[in-house]
Amino acid sequence: MTKSPIGGNRSGRKLGQKVKKGKLKASSRRWIERHINDPYVQRAQLEGYRARAAFKLLEIDEKHKILAGARRIIDLGAAPGSWSQIAAKVTNSTDADPRVAAIDFLEMDPIPGVRFLQMDFLDPEAPDRLKEAVGGTPDLVISDMAAPTTGHRQTDHLRTMHLCEVAAHFAVDVLAPGGHFLAKTFQGGTERDLLNMLKQNFRQVIHVKPASSRAESVEMFLLAKGFKGRRAEEPSEPAEDAATE
Ligand SMILES: C[S@@+](CC[C@H](N)C(=O)[O-])C[C@H]1O[C@@H](n2cnc3c(N)ncnc32)[C@H](O)[C@@H]1O
Repeated sequence: MTKSPIGGNRSGRKLGQKVKKGKLKASSRRWIERHINDPYVQRAQLEGYRARAAFKLLEIDEKHKILAGARRIIDLGAAPGSWSQIAAKVTNSTDADPRVAAIDFLEMDPIPGVRFLQMDFLDPEAPDRLKEAVGGTPDLVISDMAAPTTGHRQTDHLRTMHLCEVAAHFAVDVLAPGGHFLAKTFQGGTERDLLNMLKQNFRQVIHVKPASSRAESVEMFLLAKGFKGRRAEEPSEPAEDAATE
């Protein structure tokens, strides 16, 4: 079970630490203070995960069971790599028999069993390269992609939503029947057309907000479970908003 670290300090490092006033801008100081005092950051270090994001995937999985049974996984927007670490573990992926493909335009230190492509997912060649790298039909596509921030909130929002949409179409193109798709989105941000498309292709479509996703953040995750397969083209009821948990 994924234990909430809130209230506990399992790394032995004190919470509530302050960063001395100095040359740092107040906003940078606040960011560092929040980071070093974040119990999920401390727990990620303790448990050997590269990012606190690991707990978002683990918490979602705890409730929705998307990792068990996954034999091949594609991880979009993978760096620094905590989701890929989990993916490699659950698929028993090794360098000799790789079962996880990951992509990011940033560098990522190697993870045994993960075939990493350093490229833009929006590059027209990316889908084929990922399909080839994963070595078979994936049963799970996970995307934690967030567009680099420009400082203009609405622009950032739209660009991340675009990544979510392209990832969803990619998932429908590659997944094995029964497979699942998980992607970062924003509260109220999922387009109706995208929800319609997912509802047509998956048995269940919901929005989830794990406890480890900061409450003040508008980040949510869109989870589409039970891919019906590429023959599922019969018209469906128009989508209502996806339920939120
Ligand atoms: C929140 S981080 C992912 C953290 C990761 N899930 C983990 O557990 O370590 C989002 C990542 O998406 C990547 N990203 C954003 N847009 C991308 C794109 N178009 N192609 C590839 N990667 C992208 C960013 O470079 C960033 O590393």
